[in-house]
Amino acid sequence: MQMRTAALQKKVEAEAVFDTHPEVSLDFKYVQAALKEGYTKPFLLVDSNLIRNKARRFKATMPLVHPHYAVKANPDPRVLRTMIEEGVGFEIASISELDLLLSLGVPAAEVYYSNPMKARAYLEYAASKGVEWYVLDSIEELRKIVSVKPDAKMYLRIDTPNIGSDWPLAGKFGTHASEIQAIINEAVKLKADLAGVTFHVGSQCRNPQNWRVGIERAKKVFADMRRVGLTPRLLNIGGGYPVRHVKPIPSIEVIGEVINAAIADLPKDIRIMAEPGRYLVSDTAYFVCRVVGTATRNGKRWMYWDAGMFGGVIEVTEGLRYEILSDRTGHSIPWSIAGPTCDSVDILMHDEMLPADIQEGDFIYLPNAGAYTTAYASNFNGFPLPDVIVL
Ligand SMILES: Cc1ncc(COP(=O)(O)O)c(C=O)c1O
Repeated sequence: MQMRTAALQKKVEAEAVFDTHPEVSLDFKYVQAALKEGYTKPFLLVDSNLIRNKARRFKATMPLVHPHYAVKANPDPRVLRTMIEEGVGFEIASISELDLLLSLGVPAAEVYYSNPMKARAYLEYAASKGVEWYVLDSIEELRKIVSVKPDAKMYLRIDTPNIGSDWPLAGKFGTHASEIQAIINEAVKLKADLAGVTFHVGSQCRNPQNWRVGIERAKKVFADMRRVGLTPRLLNIGGGYPVRHVKPIPSIEVIGEVINAAIADLPKDIRIMAEPGRYLVSDTAYFVCRVVGTATRNGKRWMYWDAGMFGGVIEVTEGLRYEILSDRTGHSIPWSIAGPTCDSVDILMHDEMLPADIQEGDFIYLPNAGAYTTAYASNFNGFPLPDVIVL
């Protein structure tokens, strides 16, 4: 057993650096065809067939883990419909996401309310619509949920390492180990149905060991729950499954091997679910925008796109790096890249090596940008929201 664990660990480390598994990506010919129709504003071109492939691959890799798509990643109704057709469930952050799902015919019981901080009015609304499962990570949220819906089924979001995640989510949420017992005791006192554990390893997580640690911690919490008479029935291993950009990533198969090994000894009456967002939509899409102008400032070259941090390209501001493509083939020079607004925070990157001959009017293509792009975009400064085209 130890040999196997050591061998697996070695394989994971090797794979994490030299990922040889083929990853899908939207075929660029579809982008070229869309541009032939004309261009008026930035757009995201999504291939729903690739969403289907990703959903199937996720399920095939982890047959015991039910995927519940994180709607926030890309809430386009056509994307959601494809998930429904593939038998994927959902997790939500707000009641407008819930309404969207209900309007598409998703049963409320398939929807998990995974935002650890929910307005009382939102809880009342979700409860009235039939949502059964609610997350919490504090005593106050436990009391709030129980006061609105005494028979709510609840899962505790615990703190877990976000080491090696390009978009860390630790810090804002997740009960610290030292506070878990007090929440469990309060659940017993309130006769509340605290029945599960969840964690989030951080988005675009390139370190499979974070899931192993999260699952081990969850098992300890299950034991603490059982000790006081609670009945754990849910393990929710959250999101974080990465897609290919410019850094090496472990494939879903490598991550799945770690997760499958970690969940193998869980009792059969514990439902295991995950909340993939990025993994199911990112590499099914290209984000396309255009250079509105270039400039030289203090000897440095700048280019300005018609989509910046307010127009869908916000994730670069926290360290995520897209592959950036253009039709130019000139030698590379360091560019500063900014969005079109007058706000000085709307700067995307410095020293990005791109062709020196990029000019006003050129198209910029960001592969694998189907998640957290259009979902983040606003009309700030009067610029239009990007279009979403779904094939
Ligand atoms: C509670 C919750 N679940 C799932 C996700 C999806 O994460 P990812 O897109 O990294 O898979 C998020 C993302 O922020 C989240 O907050």
